Amino acid sequence: MKDTRILLIIGGGIAAYKSCELVRLLRKEGADVTCVLTEGGSHFVTAMTLAALSENPVHTTLWDLKNEVEMGHIQLSRQADLVVVCPATADLMARMAGGIANDLATTLLLATDKPVLAVPAMNVRMWQHPATQRNVATLRADGVAVMEPDEGAMACGEFGPGRLPEPPAICAEIARQLGSTSKPLTGRHVLITAGPTHEPIDPVRYIANRSSGKQGYAIAAAAAKAGAKVTLVSGPVNQPTPPGVTRIDVETARQMAAAVDAALPADVAIMVAAVADWRSAGEAAQKIKKDGSGQVPPLQLVENPDILATLCKSERRPPLVVGFAAETNDVLEHARAKLARKGADWIVANDVATHKMGGEINVLHIVSASGVESLPELPKDAAAALLIERIADALA
Ligand code: CTP
Repeated sequence: MKDTRILLIIGGGIAAYKSCELVRLLRKEGADVTCVLTEGGSHFVTAMTLAALSENPVHTTLWDLKNEVEMGHIQLSRQADLVVVCPATADLMARMAGGIANDLATTLLLATDKPVLAVPAMNVRMWQHPATQRNVATLRADGVAVMEPDEGAMACGEFGPGRLPEPPAICAEIARQLGSTSKPLTGRHVLITAGPTHEPIDPVRYIANRSSGKQGYAIAAAAAKAGAKVTLVSGPVNQPTPPGVTRIDVETARQMAAAVDAALPADVAIMVAAVADWRSAGEAAQKIKKDGSGQVPPLQLVENPDILATLCKSERRPPLVVGFAAETNDVLEHARAKLARKGADWIVANDVATHKMGGEINVLHIVSASGVESLPELPKDAAAALLIERIADALA
């Protein structure tokens, strides 16, 4: 997020206190943050707190002559890369949807020509009210990105959807939104493998695993959004091809190895595929039949080529090679061992005992020679955006 400017509008809800933590996280990521505090917001957090955390002046009113002379509100609305409304209250979203500009925040939102992300937080009944849902639909139709609120216990004592997502998740969504505006991977070729491989036993049976391909496809989508030329070598999955991505479908590990080799050279290789370690020694030409004797057919396995290890040793090794490791135990230890054994620059590890393969959420740990960075628990597309940001930083 280095060198990006965020205009953060803080609405009047109890979740406003979390926006302080958001400012801190965004600053830590290198973003420049300017806060706009609504009248309602000022009942929950102070301009002083936000000024101290953001290290920038905080704007609170349209009618401040000094502010208006130094920085007109139109300019304020245009100088950001992204406008974030957090918390976006029911009232603020209603005014946004209706095009009302009766304070500084709503005037900026109407005047801006920059992408807007709204992060709603409110009581569950207010969130579920048809009027709020109508307003959210209108905002989305107008091109505003509206995050889904979290579900859980609320400050008001009720339970359900309406909670502000945790600041690290908001931060990751902001990174994702910025990824669609800034293009740090322009001119780079990113090679990705995703999905499982299928290793035939006979014409109707195969060896496979539970990989859904979601994480790899999300990374391909994030890389394409970041401006990269993306080649996605995919095992059999049920995922749509992300926009701007060249997809090469394969079935077996050996086909995947050949497709990876053919796609070189690349600036980065991200090997997300859950490649089958073994294949049947001899694929039967015809369906293996039961003969009623209770005898089971002998299934001889042979090891598949290790695509990642081979790539790391290749003369055409991309400057940055990232492997993945889905582990059920001793996650970081296994990741460190794989880093050394395969010769990758990073191993991105995830614990498939706590977050099952095929699910929507992941916790990724980036393991490299310089240590471990653990990303927060995130939906797979937000985790992908953050990983692509780290990759863009590493290449820069
Ligand atoms: N990988 C690969 N080719 C293989 C096996 C794995 O390219 N034949 C890659 C995966 O895409 C991933 C990394 O190596 O990026 C680690 O995969 P994993 O299956 O976790 O490693 P293995 O070496 O197979 O170890 P194990 O299955 O025993 O944990």
